[in-house]
Amino acid sequence: MTLELFVWLLLFNIGLCQIIPGDQSVVFSSLIDPEPLDEDIYRNMFTYAHLIDISYCVSSTSHIDPPFKCDLNCEERFPNVTLVHQWYFDDSVCGYIAVTHSNIFNYKATSKKTIIVSLRGTRSLFDSYTDIKVDMVNYNNLGTKLRECGTRCRVHRGFYRYYLNTLIQIDKVLRRELDGEDDYELLILGHSLGGAISLFLSLYYLDLGYNNMTVITMGQPLVGNQPFVTWADEVLGSSKPVVHGTFDRKFFRVIHKNDVVTTIPSNNNIIDSYTQFSNQIYLNCSATETVPTIDQVVDCHDGENPLCIKKDFGKIDFFTHNYLQAHTTYFRSMGLCGIRNNVFM
Ligand SMILES: *[C@@H]1O[C@H](CO)[C@@H](O)[C@H](O)[C@H]1NC(C)=O
Ligand SMILES: *[C@@H]1O[C@H](CO)[C@@H](O)[C@H](O)[C@H]1NC(C)=O
Ligand SMILES: *[C@@H]1O[C@H](CO)[C@@H](O)[C@H](O)[C@H]1NC(C)=O
Repeated sequence: MTLELFVWLLLFNIGLCQIIPGDQSVVFSSLIDPEPLDEDIYRNMFTYAHLIDISYCVSSTSHIDPPFKCDLNCEERFPNVTLVHQWYFDDSVCGYIAVTHSNIFNYKATSKKTIIVSLRGTRSLFDSYTDIKVDMVNYNNLGTKLRECGTRCRVHRGFYRYYLNTLIQIDKVLRRELDGEDDYELLILGHSLGGAISLFLSLYYLDLGYNNMTVITMGQPLVGNQPFVTWADEVLGSSKPVVHGTFDRKFFRVIHKNDVVTTIPSNNNIIDSYTQFSNQIYLNCSATETVPTIDQVVDCHDGENPLCIKKDFGKIDFFTHNYLQAHTTYFRSMGLCGIRNNVFM
């Protein structure tokens, strides 16, 4: 099954019947105007997107060749990046771990080790079947370095299970790379379902005390209820300003205009409804614009900001908007690496 089919399944099973028209009359007294990003962070977004897209090269039929060769120009674009681990299993979210000492994010004077964890979305029928359910499980964090989320925190059952299986795949390898490093950046990246799993992974490693962390998700679905989201936003510094080269704000939730996946799952359960994060980097351009200009990449601060993703789904219109393309266009056309290989199967 292709990514396209997977997304359409998501859209038709959940999107049509469950997206509630946005209430445009709600007034947000604390609304902060959308602001453009710092130029360095804007440029880094293309690098993050490229590193995320490379995770699609890990499939049942293709892989990344060490040290870091792939069909997406890996070697030329990232000459000093070294692959540490890649995995492809049906019951976890696939991806890779790579490390570098190169200053690929243009930080001021740095010799830090960058550890990249990158997770892709899914193409399998089994995955989509799990994704479209809405039921939740209790979420308990370790409570080691972070305060406890509390007994009311609940998250998506299927995503949580994928997270646990993914953690099993990567924990040993990742800790080996992290341990004993003083000057490091742990970069956790993911698209679509991979974004949801990235978020859970970041909370786990943050709870263990790995504070030099950045988590970037693109086209990430919602994952939990209000108590969970409030806690996650707080510990990840969602309300902190975006400042290049700092870890004050750790989480960047990147949302393309009209990407419906970023607004699901949606349920009608008042106590346990899926909640938007107070965090939104919005690509204010059409689905066909692959390369947004700096003015089109704005910090909308809040997922509920009525000028951003919130306004896009007042009503779902499959005829005038290409929702699939919006979901797969994040600074480049994502997810083509494996598909190209699959064609020859
Ligand atoms: C890669 O590493 C080599 C040797 O350490 C260095 O000379 C070169 O500048 C690095 N390239 C990049 C793009 O960082
Ligand atoms: C990264 O972590 C090290 C060791 O924990 C710390 O000394 C350093 O200040 C951190 N860097 C930043 C930019 O926070
Ligand atoms: C998005 O761009 C349009 C112009 O194309 C502009 O009118 C609107 O204010 C922008 N929205 C945000 C949130 O920046």
